[in-house]
Amino acid sequence: MENTVLFFDTTLRDGEQTPGVSFHLNEKVEFARHLEALGVDMIEAGFAGASVGDYEAVRAVSKAVSTGVCSLARCVEADIVAAAKALKRAVKPRIHVFIATSPLHREAKLNMTRKQVLEAAVKSITLAKSFCEDIEFSCEDATRTEPDFLREICEAAIQAGATTLNIPDTVGYATVDEYGEMIGDIYQNVIRGRNIVLSAHCHNDLGLATATTLEAVRCGARQVECSINGLGERAGNASLEEIVMGLRTRSDIYQLKDNLNTSEIYRISRLAASLSGVEVPPNKAVVGANAFVHQSGIHQHGVLRNRETYEVMKPEDLGIPQGGMVLGKLSGRHALREHAMELGFDLTDRELNAAFEKFKELADRKKDITDRDIMALCREQMHGASGMYQIHSFQIFSGNRMTSTATVSLKMGDLIVTRADCGEGPIEACFHAVDQITGLHCTLESYQLKAVTEGEDALGEATVRVKNKDMVMLGKGVSTDIIEASCFGYINAVNRLIEAQKQSDVPSSDIE
Ligand code: KIV
Ligand code: ZN
Repeated sequence: MENTVLFFDTTLRDGEQTPGVSFHLNEKVEFARHLEALGVDMIEAGFAGASVGDYEAVRAVSKAVSTGVCSLARCVEADIVAAAKALKRAVKPRIHVFIATSPLHREAKLNMTRKQVLEAAVKSITLAKSFCEDIEFSCEDATRTEPDFLREICEAAIQAGATTLNIPDTVGYATVDEYGEMIGDIYQNVIRGRNIVLSAHCHNDLGLATATTLEAVRCGARQVECSINGLGERAGNASLEEIVMGLRTRSDIYQLKDNLNTSEIYRISRLAASLSGVEVPPNKAVVGANAFVHQSGIHQHGVLRNRETYEVMKPEDLGIPQGGMVLGKLSGRHALREHAMELGFDLTDRELNAAFEKFKELADRKKDITDRDIMALCREQMHGASGMYQIHSFQIFSGNRMTSTATVSLKMGDLIVTRADCGEGPIEACFHAVDQITGLHCTLESYQLKAVTEGEDALGEATVRVKNKDMVMLGKGVSTDIIEASCFGYINAVNRLIEAQKQSDVPSSDIE
């Protein structure tokens, strides 16, 4: 059996199925470059047959990186052809064909018999193989499939040309032992002695995704499918950072290698949170803010004597900044860039300049600038703050027994445009006035406001999701004034929406 575990990252495909999350083309490309730096073996860039946006994303990622890139495809000719075309420029392309195999899915969803499912799989793998040497086949809902049928369809998939066989626990239903036994069964009876990779793909519905994945590795799987921060459909997928740190921390048990550069983990985790708008819970394993924080005096004492008393991993192995640099009023642009990089934000010159302006303003208002403040300023930049429209000024007239009105002035280059409108409260009035200027009538999908740090001088961070013409976009805004933070968040979302709409207007003749 091979002694290297291959990492297949599906943040851009299954991760994008996280409720409310959608990545845009340039974000997918940026994220894929970070995945390449992290050293993943395969990037699932999307589902080319599902939409023009996904097709373009698979195509763009294929061009941008030289690591493996794959597209998902149903057992449908059009999906497989779209995947093959989108992957044309990939250095290491893979088509990932799947069909549901469990009786429940066969009957309730596909209305197909076992024989029909098997024939569809064989036909589709054969077609995919005519385009691409590297074919993965997944039995959706494998863990609720009859074991004999699972073996039969896996054998047929190999005969048809599949090179990787994936056994998904699609609904996170399997117990750890059950999943291990299932993987062991396929390994012993189908894979053993053949040059085929067995793969695990686990969902987290019962909070077991990392455990089931690790057990699969122990029982013969040599590819793990996972996502950064565990993003994914419903409760998410197994998280990459947990799996790799599990394998490495307990290398005494697993005794396996991998190709990852774990010092990129913190950076890419921050990027995934920024791009998806799904913040990492503080108590999340490996990358949560509290993962290396010790509250109890006894623990603090122990850690001071020897970190290993209460830490099983080293934060530096994950690229977590070690707090060497403190920023203050006199810090320069260069220090801000370096610090932002340490915190996982690779800002463009334009974003850096804008973040630096806000950093200086903040340093005048607030004594201690923390990493959480810097991260909020960076997040704001990554979410549209240097886009087409900038706030010049706003004025609000509001009270508890009146309709709120707002007068907002936005800058577009050298031009300043002012409009007024009203709303249920001051924030809605501002958003309506912004719509008057941009001419885009957006619906507010969600709005959240939180304090970035404790204390009266804390920054407020607004996270705003807006929708226009079926496109949903996230914006973030920060300020010590919560109305200003909300306006920034809204305008930033609108800026990103305009940018994304321009991109999706690329003529479809560009699709080969
Ligand atoms: O969870 C699942 O079954 C999947 C397959 C499409 C691989 O995501
Ligand atoms: Zn999945």
